[in-house]
Amino acid sequence: MKVIRTAPEMRAWSFEQRRQGRSIGFVPTMGALHEGHASLMRAAAERDDARVVSIFLNPAQFAPTEDLDRYPRTFDADKAIAEATGMEAIYAPTGSGMYPEGYATYVNVDHVSEGLCGASRPTFFRGVATVVAKLFNAVLPHRAYFGQKDAQQCAVIKRMVRDLDMDIEIVEMPIVRDPDGLAMSSRNAYLSAADRTRALALSRSLFAAQAMMEAGERDAGVLLAAVREGMADIDIDYVELVDGDDFDPVDRVAGTVVLAVAARVGETRLIDNIKYTVPAKA
Ligand code: PAF
Repeated sequence: MKVIRTAPEMRAWSFEQRRQGRSIGFVPTMGALHEGHASLMRAAAERDDARVVSIFLNPAQFAPTEDLDRYPRTFDADKAIAEATGMEAIYAPTGSGMYPEGYATYVNVDHVSEGLCGASRPTFFRGVATVVAKLFNAVLPHRAYFGQKDAQQCAVIKRMVRDLDMDIEIVEMPIVRDPDGLAMSSRNAYLSAADRTRALALSRSLFAAQAMMEAGERDAGVLLAAVREGMADIDIDYVELVDGDDFDPVDRVAGTVVLAVAARVGETRLIDNIKYTVPAKA
């Protein structure tokens, strides 16, 4: 397993893979890898010849009040997981390498980044889009793999790739859940046993709303009220039904929609969502 620390070294490795005609699959992460990340790495290993995972805890996507300092740092365990899932290289740049003194350039993806998580974390998507653009410039992937758990992040990255003419396929992989339904997240490690039980309100409420949509419910008001009721015992940040592409709120379920929630459970902010596509008429 090669560990690469600088963008020039990373590009040299990737140029060599491309010269040999190998496709490059890339999984960007902030470390603290879990089964959700492993599913992305396995997907890259199945589809791509050369596989890179990045591990970079990106300060630009954390506000000063957020949990950067206590975010889990588990490089050795991450390396073992990356190896076991078929990665060939880890790109782990340093903070000063990514954001040297005088760093001044940021990527803003308007509109799609403004609601939901963008409303409560106003600089978050700017930090994500910026670091992902920099990682793409270093890794030069053919395909990059992201998890649907961060559905708005996927929409922001897809829009950035489209708008900036980046020749990269964005592959969005399904949410990986614990057997009781909790969506896997590096932040689940912060939850006490009692909070973990309370956190199940997110997925339970979303699954109930999904069953309502499958049974024909199309009214956003009815669905949102049901989800809010299911999450009444935790501190809701948002419950929204949005269009699957541009993340605009919708009044009715049509085409592909995302039902997305965020809530604080104890000290931990959790997000979850389901995607639903209205079946075509037979
Ligand atoms: O989803 C994440 O882990 C991060 O937002 C990402 C895409 C690696 C950018 O830092």
